[in-house]
Amino acid sequence: MEKQVALVTGANRGIGFACCKLLAEKSYTVILTGRNKEKGIIATKKLQALGYKNVFFQELDVTKEKSIKKAVTNIIKEHNRIDILINNAGLFLDEGEDMKQMPYTIENIPLELVKKTIETNVYGPILLIQHVLPIMKKQNFGRIVNVSSGMSQMTDEPNLRYGGGGFPSYRISKVALNMCTRNLSFEIKKQNILVNAVCPGWCRTDMGGKDATRSAQEGAQGIVWAATLPDKGPSGKLFRDKKEIPY
Ligand SMILES: NC(=O)c1ccc[n+]([C@@H]2O[C@H](COP(=O)([O-])OP(=O)(O)OC[C@H]3O[C@@H](n4cnc5c(N)ncnc54)[C@H](OP(=O)(O)O)[C@@H]3O)[C@@H](O)[C@H]2O)c1
Repeated sequence: MEKQVALVTGANRGIGFACCKLLAEKSYTVILTGRNKEKGIIATKKLQALGYKNVFFQELDVTKEKSIKKAVTNIIKEHNRIDILINNAGLFLDEGEDMKQMPYTIENIPLELVKKTIETNVYGPILLIQHVLPIMKKQNFGRIVNVSSGMSQMTDEPNLRYGGGGFPSYRISKVALNMCTRNLSFEIKKQNILVNAVCPGWCRTDMGGKDATRSAQEGAQGIVWAATLPDKGPSGKLFRDKKEIPY
C-alpha cells in the first residue's frame, strides 16, 4: 500500500514544524508547506538532516487560491494522494507594536487587522478544504485538523483568563474556524473523513512567546493524534490533549 500523505500549512516554524516532525517519525509522507520558499526549504532540510527523508517542501500561501491549487496539483502529481490536512497556518495580530500594555479591543481594533486575520485563519482553511476534500472523497479517506485555540471557547471558564475580552480578531477567527469544523463534519458524515478542531495549548513559539507553558512539540501531540484517528473516530469536535473540550 502507498504511504499516507500529510499536508501541513504554515510549517516552516512553530507548531506546524513540530507536527511535521511527529508525522515523519510515524513514517507518513510529509508535505511541509510555507509561503516563504527559502524558509520552507531550510525547515525541510533540517528534518531531512535528522534522517526524515520522507519530508518534502511545497510552497503554499493560504491566502492565495492560485498557490493552494498549484500546491495540491503538485502533491497529487508527486505523491498521488492526500490523507491528512492540518490547517495550522495562523496569525495573531491583536497585540499591535504600539499596544505593548493592552491588546486591541473591539472598540479600537483597526478593521484591516480583523480582515487580515480572518483571511488567513478562516478563509485559508476553507480554501484548503475546498481543494483537498474532492481528493479525500475519491479515496474515501481523510483526516482534517483545524488548529484552533482555547481563546475560541464561548462556554468554558478559562476563556475568562483574559477577562473574557480583548484579542477580538483572533477570537472571532477561531470561533469561525470551529464552526467550519462542525459544519463540515455534518456535511461529510457518510464518508470516512473526520474533521476536528484542536487547541494545542499555550506553546513557546513566535506566536505564543517564551513564557508559554509548553513546547511546540507538546502542542503538536494533540494535533497529530487527531490527524491520525482510526476509522469511526470522533468528528466535528474541539479537543485539547486528546480530550474533548466545549466550544
Ligand atoms: N502558540 C500558541 O500558544 C498557540 C495557542 C493556541 C493556538 N495556536 C495556533 O497554532 C497555530 C500555529 O501557531 P504557532 O504558535 O506555531 O505560530 P507561529 O510560530 O507564529 O507560526 C505561524 C506559522 O503560520 C505561517 N503563516 C502565516 N500566514 C501564512 C500564510 N498566509 N500562508 C502560509 N503560512 C502562513 C507562518 O509563516 P511565516 O514564517 O512565513 O510567517 C508560520 O509558519 C496557529 O493556528 C495558532 O493560532 C497557537
